[in-house]
Amino acid sequence: MDRNAPVGVFDSGVGGLTVAREIIRQIPEERIIYFGDTARLPYGSKSRDTIIRYSRQIIRFLRTKEVKAIVIACNTASSYALDAVQAETDIPVIGVINAGARTAVQATRNRKIGVIGTEGTIGSGIYTEVMQQMRPDIEVFGKPCPLFVPLVEEGLLHDSVTDEIASRYLSSLKGKYIDTLVLGCTHYPLLRSTLQRLLGEGVTLVNPAYETALELRDLLKRQHLDREGDAFPEEEKYQFFVSDLADKFTSFATAILPGQVKETRKINIEEY
Ligand code: DGL
Repeated sequence: MDRNAPVGVFDSGVGGLTVAREIIRQIPEERIIYFGDTARLPYGSKSRDTIIRYSRQIIRFLRTKEVKAIVIACNTASSYALDAVQAETDIPVIGVINAGARTAVQATRNRKIGVIGTEGTIGSGIYTEVMQQMRPDIEVFGKPCPLFVPLVEEGLLHDSVTDEIASRYLSSLKGKYIDTLVLGCTHYPLLRSTLQRLLGEGVTLVNPAYETALELRDLLKRQHLDREGDAFPEEEKYQFFVSDLADKFTSFATAILPGQVKETRKINIEEY
């Protein structure tokens, strides 16, 4: 395997750019091929079988770009498809759940952790399972927050409507006296300041993207896959592909990764 090959990162759409952003911060020397499945999002309300089929197609596409490792940036796809695709792929594939779970387990002091995510992620129970494997005496309270994704995509990051919906979603978690909250969906780190204000400074917010980037860095080092070549031409370092609406993706992506998204190319993912 060529250690100077790019890393593949995929998500249902733009949200996974919050993970790409952390990878760029933590391992700026690595190249990235990003795929956002904008034609078929949201993933959060779809079945396990569908998400596994989509993930397999995306991995086949990323492999045509000769990636050396793959990061499933989407929490829903990590919940449903990681085990299936890891078992059949001969390059490393990581998701975001383990990283988020580990950080939360280390952060909690009262052993009460909240997790917010899509219906798929929360319904799968995966965060609870992984955290209780790490530390059986932990109590985990999951809450699906399906309206957060459209609110973020509408750009309503600081808006009274978002405040109102967030207070309703968070009220049951507040009643459980959680001291740590996992932002278990790609879009939620963009609501961080709203969530922190509503929960108060006593609650630690965990963004799995940060720890996932560190996990990727360590994995590449361990497997001698970390980049050691000369600097790559800037304009080709990060490449972006989507299954629909390339221009819309570029404008949203520019807000998350200023200056990094020069061009987005549309492909037909159903061909893979
Ligand atoms: N990327 C998804 C996740 O992290 C959120 C958006 C969607 O439902 O597709 O679960």
